Amino acid sequence: MARWPEPTSRSKQLYERGLEVFPGGITRTLPWQEPFPVYAAKGEGAYVVDVDGTRRLDLLNNFATLVHGHAHPAVVEAVRRQVGDGTAFALPTEREVALAEVICARAESFEQIRFCNSGSEAVMSAIKAARALTGRPKIVKAEGVYHGSYDYAEVSLDSNPSNWGNDPISIGYSKGVPKGVADDVVVVPFNDVEAAERIIRANAPQIAAVLMDPAPSYLGFTPMSQAFIDMIERVTREIGAVFILDEVITFRAHRGGAQTLLGIDPDITTLGKIIGGGFPVGAVAGRRAFMSVYDHRAGKPALPWSGTFTANPVTMTAGQVTLELLDDAAIDRINHLNERLVRSLNSAFERSSFPGQVTGFASMFMIFGHKRPIVDYRSAYASPAEAKCIKALQRGLTEEGFHIAGTGKGFLSTPMTEADIESFMEAVIKLTKAGLTA
Ligand SMILES: Cc1ncc(COP(=O)(O)O)c(C=O)c1O
Repeated sequence: MARWPEPTSRSKQLYERGLEVFPGGITRTLPWQEPFPVYAAKGEGAYVVDVDGTRRLDLLNNFATLVHGHAHPAVVEAVRRQVGDGTAFALPTEREVALAEVICARAESFEQIRFCNSGSEAVMSAIKAARALTGRPKIVKAEGVYHGSYDYAEVSLDSNPSNWGNDPISIGYSKGVPKGVADDVVVVPFNDVEAAERIIRANAPQIAAVLMDPAPSYLGFTPMSQAFIDMIERVTREIGAVFILDEVITFRAHRGGAQTLLGIDPDITTLGKIIGGGFPVGAVAGRRAFMSVYDHRAGKPALPWSGTFTANPVTMTAGQVTLELLDDAAIDRINHLNERLVRSLNSAFERSSFPGQVTGFASMFMIFGHKRPIVDYRSAYASPAEAKCIKALQRGLTEEGFHIAGTGKGFLSTPMTEADIESFMEAVIKLTKAGLTA
């Protein structure tokens, strides 16, 4: 039987069909890999079986959403029951109240919550909330940090040495972004306390919000330093701006998210991914005084909130079961497995000629094709040759039976065993020792 990437594989046939109906052959760019994507047939715990019958350890987990892997029996059973009772209503359900209670019990700053359908939507709403609360136009974000696909949140996502300037220059991410978008985003260097404070203060009267990810994925999950956390908390409060913490990806780090683990006190938090248990989701949670922006009881709220599929009971059910299963012991276990993975791979790279490194936070890791110490976007930035080397690693791993991202990112899930991680590390060591050519 043919296997990916053979031209006779079923994945190739599906890609050929896709080329007729999708620009570029696929309907989202994320799963793209050369020469064509692997098409999934089904998921079983930590593994995915593709349409050619090849089984691979899934370190992607739909980009960190499936913390219990694929088709966890308890999630499947609860969802099956809910689907039989209806999938979406133009009425609230008990399921949304139950998931809200589960999430609000997990972090001190989550006094109230509102659901939506993606992390991008959550970030968009949080930014609009901050503007509604302060009457100011600008947001602050860190250079090279991903917060989803809202124009403002994308500014300076892929700056490069030819355009990033000394202090980070605000650059629209896609072609056609109005100049006003970049003008309303103040970009700061991540973890650089002095520069970030200076830049924020210079724009203080116009700043509605400071948006930060506690351990940005594009920066190899480098966590915010204590000094940076202290500065952001102090300065946002002094200038009357809203501190938005984007925990769409990092909430898996601890029962109460990275904010509890690192001791961060945001006004508003954006959530997504794992809280939907494998279904589309987003949420904004925060202190009552800030969440009141959505309260309609006195007439039109400062920020109206809607969404046809918002809080649909299927997502709510899957999210509740998923979070109830994700207790301290489950989180500790995958965090420790990841810590070992990062340590072991780094020491293997030290002993080999592979000029790379692995960074990680909680149950997430990233393999880089360079050894420069990573503190921010500019030090994490990969040259085209380094980026190609990691793409070659991804391709080699796919052929060896492992899915990671083309950027070198991977996410652990609770069904993964020590043996799974051992075999993944062996494959990485074998491929990096053999040398990687793009
Ligand atoms: C930190 C962060 N914020 C926001 C988003 C956007 O979430 P979604 O893809 O659900 O729109 C992501 C997605 O990866 C993310 O990692």
